[in-house]
Amino acid sequence: MRNIFTNPKRLPLIAPSILSADFANMARDCGAVLAAAPDGGGADLLHVDVMDGHFVPNLTLGPDMVKGIRKACPKAFLDVHLMVTDPEFFIKPFVDAGADHLTFQVETVASERIAEVVGKIREHGITAGLAISPPTPIEKILPHVDEVDLVLVMSVNPGFGGQKFMSAVLDKTSRISDMLLPTQRLEMDGGINLETAPQVIEAGCDVIVAGSAVFGLPPKKWSGAVDAIRGKPA
Ligand code: DX5
Ligand code: ZN
Repeated sequence: MRNIFTNPKRLPLIAPSILSADFANMARDCGAVLAAAPDGGGADLLHVDVMDGHFVPNLTLGPDMVKGIRKACPKAFLDVHLMVTDPEFFIKPFVDAGADHLTFQVETVASERIAEVVGKIREHGITAGLAISPPTPIEKILPHVDEVDLVLVMSVNPGFGGQKFMSAVLDKTSRISDMLLPTQRLEMDGGINLETAPQVIEAGCDVIVAGSAVFGLPPKKWSGAVDAIRGKPA
């Protein structure tokens, strides 16, 4: 299993969300955001937002796009976030396309079946994550925290990039963070930029997704933005 989440240094990993990249130039943008700059900048992984137009009111990309990115960036770690009503149906197509990790939403699978779906993801030799949307009570995810490699706390309502950060979710993060083993990671996704990132890291998150705060800038500034979000002094 290729698991980058167990990095013992616990440095925050920065995951640009390709939802804010240029879809007509996806390979170019993925390669550029991953490329190490002379000062060591560059993203740690790519966050891939899959939306089915049903669980969320937006339609984004499918396994063929992941296959294309995998071909263009063979070494990239692809963190696939399934915002779909039937995540189980999509496990194999995304694994075959080259996903390294699959996160599904806790709202989409009955509580008694979550461990089973996690098992089905891991059967393919990849890591599994569970995401929780802002309106969903924390009690829904707490029983499953020890069943996954990563917990994703959404800081916007899933569906679109460029939304405002919802700081109320930081309470959830702090509680979940206390429960995690060193082999598990806590990811936050939505509205993270230079202003909001410090509180996200302070609350215990160590995988930070950022879409518009990276790809919304000119390409030359991507590496600097990634470093700044990570908290590295300029
Ligand atoms: C929202 C997605 C996010 C989104 C983040 O449903 O899951 O990954 O692309 O974009 P920003 O960083 O622009 O909020
Ligand atoms: Zn996401």
